Amino acid sequence: MLKKGEKNKNALIPGVESYREGTGEFSLLGSVSLLSLSPGLEDMARLLAAYLTREGVTPVVGKGDHPGEGPAITLKIEGKAEEHEMGFPDESYHLEVQADRIALTAPHRAGLARAVQTLRQLAGTGTAIPAAEIGDRPRLPWRGMHLDVSRHFFSKEEVLRFIDTIALFRFNKFHFHLTDDQGWRPEIKKYPRLTEVGSRRSGTLIGHYSDKPHRFEDTPYGGFYTRRDMEEIVEFARVREIDIIPEIDMPGHMQAAISAYPELGCTGMTLEPRCTWGISQHILNPQETTLNFMRDVLDEIMDIFPYTFIHVGGDEAHKYEWEEQRRVQDRMAELGLESEEELQSWFISRMGEHVRRRDRRMIGWDEILEGGLADGAIVMSWRSEEGGIEAARLGAPVINCPCERTYFDYYQGPKEKEPLAIGGYLPLEKVYRFEPVPAEIPDSKKYLVMGSQGQLWSEYMETFDRVEYMAFPRALALAETLWCRPEEKDWEGFQDRLPRALSLLDRWGVNYHGREPRRG
Ligand code: ACM
Repeated sequence: MLKKGEKNKNALIPGVESYREGTGEFSLLGSVSLLSLSPGLEDMARLLAAYLTREGVTPVVGKGDHPGEGPAITLKIEGKAEEHEMGFPDESYHLEVQADRIALTAPHRAGLARAVQTLRQLAGTGTAIPAAEIGDRPRLPWRGMHLDVSRHFFSKEEVLRFIDTIALFRFNKFHFHLTDDQGWRPEIKKYPRLTEVGSRRSGTLIGHYSDKPHRFEDTPYGGFYTRRDMEEIVEFARVREIDIIPEIDMPGHMQAAISAYPELGCTGMTLEPRCTWGISQHILNPQETTLNFMRDVLDEIMDIFPYTFIHVGGDEAHKYEWEEQRRVQDRMAELGLESEEELQSWFISRMGEHVRRRDRRMIGWDEILEGGLADGAIVMSWRSEEGGIEAARLGAPVINCPCERTYFDYYQGPKEKEPLAIGGYLPLEKVYRFEPVPAEIPDSKKYLVMGSQGQLWSEYMETFDRVEYMAFPRALALAETLWCRPEEKDWEGFQDRLPRALSLLDRWGVNYHGREPRRG
């Protein structure tokens, strides 16, 4: 990594751990053979070939050979993977560029996937890549971006594009916020009304939630992903070694599901998916039938998303209906629970047991700490860093994503110059200066902080263009914060490198804050 103040010789974001200049350069003009020298890398070679084709190279993909004459790029699994104390794969890699050879090596596919993206960055900045030797590895194993597809729906193609863009900056987690009060998005075969009814609302709030009186656009709004769509998204992410964390938010944020199946609710009222923002008061009833329904939903979600981590939400569950309903109070008494917070913890713990039966791990927002933390749960701390500090004290793994540092639905510039956003103020530099491992956590427990992620709540992001505008370049600052060690970070250096990274986004047709208006 460059020392602070040293001129950047490459424009990589995140910065790489070591970069040694060589002599000569690898030309990107003409034909290049692309060889996977280890089994099982053909998909990655094809991905790299597709990226290079975009840069004007004519790649010829082969496998299991020694490169012959002419320029060649090779991919190889090599070396012993380091064991991570939390079981994450080794993402280190080595990338060597010579005049007629580029060699990508890593002890694990995950590292090779990062090397492919580093090469994609290098190839995107000219007609040749300067000779160099790069050694690289991340600081933290959880480097994520979140996307809310409930408040506004984004098509499968847009989701794929988002995953491909975050991959470019070596992110490795995509948190897919699939359900909320305003729309249920994943098709669930056993309960078709979830999407038939729950994916469509009759209108949408105009302007900001705090503007009174509320005005609505009464055009129906909806969308959902078929099982096939989700499988395609999983496959697309798999090649890029990005894990998807599906979230089914419960027991609050469930109005869309209760609209489809009123028996899931506490009141039996006829509802429809919420047309305004803010949080619904309607909450799941905690009867066994509801738990079984949610277990079925999680089963289908776990069938589709083959990853360790399953998110069950747990945030902002208004307990008003639980306090008011005799049936719920009786249930609490029957279970020997003394508060509604304990009831929520009991509910979340049952989901955690279910997830664990399939050898998965449950994540919840920090409210899951309130009535007692479920065994084995991972805490995603959003309201402040306190939840993460408390969770680590209890020995639980943490994803530290406090809203004031990682909520990319906040304004990123002066409010009067920006499109409508939820509020707050989170400029690029504040994201860059975020330290994801809170100092208050004792050193012996710091390993429990797996990393962080940027949040894109989509109330005020009607289009995918706006999603990209809010995400970038703040996600680049976060990517560097999570990939580089604190002593390697350098705000001035980051700013020097940013224009080249932004030109990569231009090349890939990605919108961002600060971009010149599109011409034509
Ligand atoms: C959240 O912002 N409700 C997690």
